[in-house]
Amino acid sequence: MNDLRTNFEDTVGKFVDVSGQYYPLNDPWAPAIITKEQIDAEIERLASVDRPENGRRSSLIVHPRANPATPGLATSVQVSLNVLKPGERTQAFRHNATEVNFCIRGEGVAVIGDRRIPFRKYDVYNTPSFVPYWRENTGTDLQVFLTYTNVPLLQFMQVHHWEDNPPLLAAVPHEEEDAINPRRNSPYGTFTIGDDGAMLMPYEKLINPPTVESNALHWPWEKVEAELKKLQDLGQDYIGRRLYLLYNPMTGRTNGTTPNFFATITIRPPKIVDRPHRHVSESINYYFHGTGRSTVAGNVYEWKAGDLMLSAPGWAVHNHASYDDYVYELTIQNQPLTIAMESLLWQENLKEPPALLGAQMGFDTNRKSAA
Ligand SMILES: [Fe+2]
Repeated sequence: MNDLRTNFEDTVGKFVDVSGQYYPLNDPWAPAIITKEQIDAEIERLASVDRPENGRRSSLIVHPRANPATPGLATSVQVSLNVLKPGERTQAFRHNATEVNFCIRGEGVAVIGDRRIPFRKYDVYNTPSFVPYWRENTGTDLQVFLTYTNVPLLQFMQVHHWEDNPPLLAAVPHEEEDAINPRRNSPYGTFTIGDDGAMLMPYEKLINPPTVESNALHWPWEKVEAELKKLQDLGQDYIGRRLYLLYNPMTGRTNGTTPNFFATITIRPPKIVDRPHRHVSESINYYFHGTGRSTVAGNVYEWKAGDLMLSAPGWAVHNHASYDDYVYELTIQNQPLTIAMESLLWQENLKEPPALLGAQMGFDTNRKSAA
């Protein structure tokens, strides 16, 4: 493989006359459910095949609408089902994608860069971009993971860079204090050229943006569940959602678990029906307790514990309802990405206009009066 030389065909851009025309209308992907039975069968199948050389028994969970070159369960989210048998471990790997990992069965240890994370069922951890990682099954049962990545976006951009068996502990260059590092204090400053805030930034600053430490973080289910149980006490009148975002502080104002996704875990008491709402971010739910239904753009879908669902394609009106038991769900949305793109329209109440979250004032709940 040589990525320094490519023989391109002679290529010329072309004109597409759109005079007087508008942009095409969006054509959202249909909601899709992968049932517990399908997932269980695939787990057994992955456990029964010969161990692949890289140790990764893995299947993508793909929406039929996905382009084969960018296989995702949603347009921007790749979901994979990963199995390790007792005693097995994966080879080290790294890529310029970021991941949310959710253990749905078994236990083990993940090593991400210099961090070692022992985990159990329903624990979540993230992997930062381009940090080598591997995973081991230290238990006696199969270890099963759902992994959510932004790989389809990188594939669409033709810039997914990955490396098998990278050096495990790449030397991290020592970060000097800002005060003594001349690269941090370029004499070629950024300056305004008018009174509206428009500025000019020199190349030296462009190629040396501020760095933010990006770490693997661990959300043990034991601790998350204890906090979620406290949200049960919000009464039936509470109109917000009883959830916590598994927040990674490096994502700052974009409210993420990774720079692309947030992961939230919701506890939904019996017979709670959400208000219909919609958002540009696309949403994938994994239910791990209880049963219920989702109404998405007028279509009703029933689900139960162990089902995975593309539950809200971007901008489809939806709401979820629990039946007779508590529902626990892990939700992945590409909200940080859409906030960063200044694209996150969100309509919390269909009787009111949407807001552009991250740029305009968002919404409130009645938590103070409900508590
Ligand atoms: Fe939603």
